[in-house]
Amino acid sequence: MLSRYFKPALLEKIAAGAGTPVYVYSRELFLRQISSYKKAFKGLDPLFCYAMKANSSRGLCGLAAAAGWGADVVSGGELYRALRAGFKPGKVIFSGVGKTPEELEYALRQGILFVNAESMEEVLELERAAARLKLRAPLSLRINPDVDPHTHKYITTGKLGSKFGVSFAEAEKIYMYAAESRHLDPVGAQFHIGSQVRSAGPYALAAGRLAAFMLRLASRGVNLSYADVGGGWGVKEGGEMPDPAALARAVGGVFGGTGLKLVLEPGRSVAAPSGILLTRTIYRKRGGTKNYVVVDAGMNDLVRPALYGAKHPVALVGNCRGPRKTFDLVGPVCESGDFLAEGVKLCEPAPGQLVAVYSAGAYGFSMSSQYNSRPRAAEALITGPSSWKLIRRRETYKDLTAAEL
Ligand code: LLP
Repeated sequence: MLSRYFKPALLEKIAAGAGTPVYVYSRELFLRQISSYKKAFKGLDPLFCYAMKANSSRGLCGLAAAAGWGADVVSGGELYRALRAGFKPGKVIFSGVGKTPEELEYALRQGILFVNAESMEEVLELERAAARLKLRAPLSLRINPDVDPHTHKYITTGKLGSKFGVSFAEAEKIYMYAAESRHLDPVGAQFHIGSQVRSAGPYALAAGRLAAFMLRLASRGVNLSYADVGGGWGVKEGGEMPDPAALARAVGGVFGGTGLKLVLEPGRSVAAPSGILLTRTIYRKRGGTKNYVVVDAGMNDLVRPALYGAKHPVALVGNCRGPRKTFDLVGPVCESGDFLAEGVKLCEPAPGQLVAVYSAGAYGFSMSSQYNSRPRAAEALITGPSSWKLIRRRETYKDLTAAEL
């Protein structure tokens, strides 16, 4: 377990200072994960573009920027936050299936590394934006390699039949078009097969297909510089960091020594183990055959259990004197899908006791909402053995209505 990074005494202090629910991240864990990626890929010298969507808090992703990483963004808003967090524009790539003309123009003005385009219509839009700005847009295409990553269907993205990317046949036509354009500069090719992928096999398969395609393109005179293999490396929920060495072997085996610059877009594997959601017990009750522990964090704070059936390990903070019971850990939101964990077998927490929900550093806060008019949680960063700082304040009731006219 990662509990040694989240010590009970410190968690009590954070809860007292920041209130609950609060996301708590460990700087040490986040940096360790970054260095384990660097170590695993040593020799291949890739560009790591941290996927901002996993956790876009400045206090956390700024650490990736300071470590020399770039960023993968999927909206103008993420680009704005990436630049504010300190990522260099020349290390930012822009992915996503529906970028607007305004977003494309904004990205080109910032001088990002390349755009991962996903359709011919988008490429034409990018070309128009580049013409308006009188420059050549660095273009990469997201290609759907038709590989099954064996993960949840909502986060499977590299199989034919998903909305993402273009087929190899279509990509070839688009590259040939781009090569002739005054305002497009074809520089790379990308795939992203899915998220929470737990084995390297699908990457090896997709990388092999991409490499063969790039060779074919080269034979037609289009020489690309970047091979972007996306993100998606999975984590064991609640466990230690996943070792990316197997991933490095799979993609390094294909692209190592080709002269192409390898690009990776890891999000979850860096951020998930680095954070927990800290919540306080409010009530206990029995309903039908079940025991419920009602806590002050709900599906608006962490939607993953409700949306994907994700199983985040939970642990009580500090000693517990209650009996061992099987219970559901539920939130205050008015929906039956509002649970953080089901069928937990633990000593039952007393009202006021803190509970930690693990592996919540990725797609936790970034997917949170104000549903039920619940102000969003605070975020705190552990900076030393007994030190922490607030990196985002808790929202207030005023924040709930701040944008209303
Ligand atoms: N690159 C692209 C183009 C992506 O679409 C994604 C994630 C990533 C990189 C980063 O993937 P990661 O390394 O984090 O797996 N909300 C879901 C996950 C959605 C992932 C979407 N795309 C969840 O909570 O499981």
